[in-house]
Amino acid sequence: MAQIFPKNANTLPVLSLAGVLFGGVLVVGLVWYYFSPEFVDVGYAPEQPVEYSHRFHVSELGLDCRYCHSYVEVSPHANIPATETCMNCHSQIQTESLKLLPVRESWATGNSIEWVKVNFLPDYVQFNHSAHVNNGVGCETCHGRIDQMEVVYQEEPLSMGWCLECHRQPELYLRPNSEVTTMGYVHPTDFVEQNVERIAQDGIVPPTNCSACHY
Ligand code: HEC
Ligand code: HEC
Ligand code: HEC
Ligand code: HEC
Ligand code: HEC
Repeated sequence: MAQIFPKNANTLPVLSLAGVLFGGVLVVGLVWYYFSPEFVDVGYAPEQPVEYSHRFHVSELGLDCRYCHSYVEVSPHANIPATETCMNCHSQIQTESLKLLPVRESWATGNSIEWVKVNFLPDYVQFNHSAHVNNGVGCETCHGRIDQMEVVYQEEPLSMGWCLECHRQPELYLRPNSEVTTMGYVHPTDFVEQNVERIAQDGIVPPTNCSACHY
């Protein structure tokens, strides 16, 4: 006689329980993943049109960041240098190099090199380089050891939680303005006390209200 319920129907409640549990775990997992700093593109290192090495130009040649990113102290955006900046040297150095062919082409045609952006914030977030650099936040704190990178990658999560971690306790991060482009900066042992003093003196108050970062 045909059974109304197949014999293995007994496993159904077990399966659905498992389903609920698994679904729960999945939701928790997704929420955790989405809100965890690792969700964002740490390590993103797009291929660039020219094999330009920060390691070589910063560590070996000793160029300061502001030689190329010259607006970083006065503007919300840190500019990528124009081809002319490269040609200051490369009109005389390595003039036959194939690696520099796109640079010479750009110089000859006037079309800029199409560098690929590495660090991104969504459009609904306000960010201003000069407000940070002029208040003692080092490039290194947000971008890592650029002086060791052959290819630039995103070092920090750039997530809301990450921004707020510093905005709530800036004394743990600031350095003297004269050191903002220093790579491998070592804080003196009493730097927190020094920062607390400076923060009070200069009235440094990183905002934590929503509208400061989101219009
Ligand atoms: C000789 C010029 C030059 C110097 C000096 C230089 N950079 Fe750059 N930088 C570039 C160019 C060109 C790019 C775009 C290509 C790339 O990402 O490698 C770039 C890209 C970057 C990016 C990634 C931008 C993005 O798209 O998100 C960061 C961050 C950066 N530089 C930081 C620094 C820091 C910090 C220093 C100093 C320690 C520095 N740079 C020194 C030329 C320079
Ligand atoms: C407080 C963190 C922070 C500091 C300090 C900082 N940056 Fe950035 N930087 C960012 C973020 C965030 C972005 C992505 C901005 C965006 O997409 O709107 C970025 C983007 C860039 C870019 C790509 C162009 C742009 O403006 O989007 C360059 C180049 C750059 N930074 C260089 C520098 C240099 C050089 C310094 C030090 C003089 C520096 N940054 C200091 C967080 C920082
Ligand atoms: C202050 C001078 C100076 C500036 C400015 C400069 N470079 Fe260089 N660059 C050099 C020197 C020196 C070398 C190494 C030459 C050698 O190995 O003989 C070099 C090497 C290179 C190489 C490797 C070439 C090869 O065939 O090995 C590339 C690619 C390069 N630079 C790209 C750039 C780009 C892109 C810019 C602008 C964003 C730039 N450089 C700005 C001095 C400079
Ligand atoms: C390591 C510390 C640090 C980090 C990380 C940091 N900030 Fe700040 N932020 C500061 C300091 C210091 C100031 C200056 C406060 C002042 O001027 O009183 C500031 C100021 C600001 C301001 C006000 C600037 C203005 O124009 O008045 C905004 C908006 C802001 N930060 C957004 C961000 C965002 C978005 C991020 C993350 C992508 C971020 N910050 C990451 C330290 C930090
Ligand atoms: C210091 C700057 C800063 C402040 C203050 C801030 N945010 Fe954000 N917020 C960010 C950044 C940066 C992101 C983008 C994060 C990313 O790309 O993952 C963000 C993303 C968000 C998102 C999108 C979340 C998502 O996962 O897509 C919401 C919603 C949000 N913020 C709401 C708020 C509210 C509400 C407040 C006030 C309680 C606030 N923010 C205060 C910097 C800030």
